[in-house]
Amino acid sequence: MAEDFVWVDFDLLESFMSDAFQAAGVPREDAQICAEVLITSDKRGIDSHGIGRFKRIYIDRIKDGILNTETNFEVVKDGPTTAVVDGHNGMGHVIGKRAMQTAIDKAKVYGMGMVAVRNSTHYGIAGYYSLMAAEAGMIGITGTNARPSIAPTFGVENMLGTNPLTIGFPTGEDFPFVLDCATSVSQRGKIEEYSRLGKTLPEGWVIGEDGSSKTDPGEVLKALVAGTAALAPLGGIGEETAGHKGYGYATVVEILSAALQNGSFMKDLLGHDAQGNKTPYPLGHFFIAINIEAFLGLETFKQIAGSILQGLRNSRKMPGAERIYTAGEKEHEQWLFRKNRGAKVDSKLQNELIEVRDEFDLDYHFDFED
Ligand SMILES: NC(=O)c1ccc[n+]([C@@H]2O[C@H](COP(=O)([O-])OP(=O)(O)OC[C@H]3O[C@@H](n4cnc5c(N)ncnc54)[C@H](O)[C@@H]3O)[C@@H](O)[C@H]2O)c1
Repeated sequence: MAEDFVWVDFDLLESFMSDAFQAAGVPREDAQICAEVLITSDKRGIDSHGIGRFKRIYIDRIKDGILNTETNFEVVKDGPTTAVVDGHNGMGHVIGKRAMQTAIDKAKVYGMGMVAVRNSTHYGIAGYYSLMAAEAGMIGITGTNARPSIAPTFGVENMLGTNPLTIGFPTGEDFPFVLDCATSVSQRGKIEEYSRLGKTLPEGWVIGEDGSSKTDPGEVLKALVAGTAALAPLGGIGEETAGHKGYGYATVVEILSAALQNGSFMKDLLGHDAQGNKTPYPLGHFFIAINIEAFLGLETFKQIAGSILQGLRNSRKMPGAERIYTAGEKEHEQWLFRKNRGAKVDSKLQNELIEVRDEFDLDYHFDFED
């Protein structure tokens, strides 16, 4: 099916989201952070986690009373290089940004900083926070747990979140290295995107209770909520293509997102109780900043990292392949391509934006309404 979308200016969307968050009760400065993290996803070409998530994951959850608009970022334990934060189900983007900034500030003084967070909520693209560290000349690492989605190898039950594990490095190049992806083959946002576009899922992304691949995105989204389908870990279903390695990494992220901060995990993140009533998703995250200057000069690090990345991109290509990429490169190119165009907004999203605009009586007009 042909993609049906229009380009909408980034600044317009960012200010629209910020105003809508404020109308929903989020304080101005926090609303701006949420809008900025979301639009960064669209700017980087990650359509699954930007404007596409704005209404359903944030505005609707605020209205459902399971996401607090006022963020109480409570540092419950503080050390020279570590902190534990309770986010009290506030806005995940705000908690994420403040937590990574805390880790960076500690790393500036002591060489390293790590912050473990409990009772946060969905923080969007994990890469945003690793980028913060890379932009400060540091190595940034973050991960988060999420609604149970991934089945363990040889299992069919959705137990682990899609649990992204993200690492960013400054490089001597035009863009930092940012590996920013889920520990599942795919993730829910991408399945939502396939559903909006009426596209069939590739085989191997989702396992049903009978062990077979499920490919209808609408059915899969419902089955994931009902617990009758699960996402395959990175590497895929079974051991043959190394699904056990992705399963292992997803488990690492689940433990680091819950065990250091005495937080919730796996089925406690379902978002509903036994009666089907909606409940908060009290997610956990972790943020690590490593100050490169504590090891050696930043320029030397960047030079070596840059040489490794260039060496990879210049290595022999497989027949038919035009080029080899390194992590962060496609997102940088998407930004260059999109900066004068804007974000991709498909027809379902257009309706969602109009719905939110009308609901909060905001003074915005979108070109796609003409
Ligand atoms: N907050 C959450 O709960 C949550 C959960 C899952 C995913 N996410 C976010 O969703 C986004 C998308 O995740 P995904 O798993 O769909 O990512 P993906 O499968 O699209 O992979 C993206 C990563 O792979 C790199 N990449 C892509 N093609 C490459 C190539 N040919 N060579 C080298 N590197 C290449 C990109 O630079 C990027 O780092 C991420 O931003 C992630 O943080 C968030």
